[in-house]
Amino acid sequence: MDTDSMKGTVMVTGGCGYIGSHCVLALLEKGYDVLAFDDFSTGHREISERLSEASGKCRGRFIGTFRGSLLEKDDLKKAMDGNRVDSVIHFAAYSQVKESVKEPSKYWRNNVCGTMNLLDAMKEHGVGKIVFSSTAAVYGEPESVPIKEDAPLRPINPYGNTKLTIERMMDDYGRAYGLRSVRLRYFNVAGADPQLRTGEWHEPETHLIPRILRSVAAGEPFRIFGTDYPTRDGTCVRDYVNVCDLADAHLLALSYLEEGGATDAFNLGTGNGSTVKEVHAACERALKMGIPVIEDSRREGDPAELIADSSKARSILGWNPSRTLDDSIRTAWAWEKERKRLFG
Ligand code: UFG
Repeated sequence: MDTDSMKGTVMVTGGCGYIGSHCVLALLEKGYDVLAFDDFSTGHREISERLSEASGKCRGRFIGTFRGSLLEKDDLKKAMDGNRVDSVIHFAAYSQVKESVKEPSKYWRNNVCGTMNLLDAMKEHGVGKIVFSSTAAVYGEPESVPIKEDAPLRPINPYGNTKLTIERMMDDYGRAYGLRSVRLRYFNVAGADPQLRTGEWHEPETHLIPRILRSVAAGEPFRIFGTDYPTRDGTCVRDYVNVCDLADAHLLALSYLEEGGATDAFNLGTGNGSTVKEVHAACERALKMGIPVIEDSRREGDPAELIADSSKARSILGWNPSRTLDDSIRTAWAWEKERKRLFG
């Protein structure tokens, strides 16, 4: 049986954000000790407190959240000097496509320069394993779906460019310094922890499912961005993967590296595509109510269809995503109500 000391300590950058906090919980449940590193720019102090409370019932120890910035080398040094870190899972990044087009400098500095500082700190502290939060945006507008990892890497916005650049930086650090990395290229992430210890909390919120749910809470119609795409009902198709399934993939990626696995990239999605209209209809079914809609024009930079071929993650990492879109909508709605109750 695993013991805590066998599992080691993982530093999770962006550990108080949406996907990061679910991953912290999964690590703690598995018996890892976890140090979160977060500047609370998009992550939340309240979530750090929730993680602390939840850790009492977990096998691993939540060391806490080091409030710091990846842009401050000294913050990284302090966090890593004070804790014997065995590996890193790296979520901290800006991730809004539209904003990245308007403010590329913010994205290149935070995502690329921040990650370079992180990799340098890892090198200095002898930490040789990293699981990196990459994205389907590295593929840009795909030639065909489902998308495999060897599809052309042609991002169409600064956000995707920064993530692809980081993947290449990790290759170079791997060749020169022996860093081993797993890049997990997520498709569309949805849902919340079924125990409602954490969930999605972006301000502003741009993602489809929470936007639909927030429109209900606000009593406003929800806007569909584009109904003239070459898809089965004219709206964009996306592959919605549950956040807990995604967290599981990070643990599998970490085990893969611990067992000596080589640097590699894996797509994470379900292989099923849903249109915006289908997601809206699924929300209406889950909430048992009609949700008013306005058909709006296209949002700039949205590819028509993104569906993952995740067979590589299934065969090499042993990943087996099991939650459905309905599970994601149900837990997202429960969390939306809990979040309002807790934090207003
Ligand atoms: N959408 C609406 N109305 C809304 C919000 C979204 O119609 O109020 C539509 C979008 O136009 C898109 C779909 O719902 O067609 C999904 O949009 P999301 O914003 O939820 O997700 P994206 O597919 O745009 O973004 C995801 C990841 C990004 C990543 C991108 C790659 O969240 O990190 O895929 O294209 F960069």
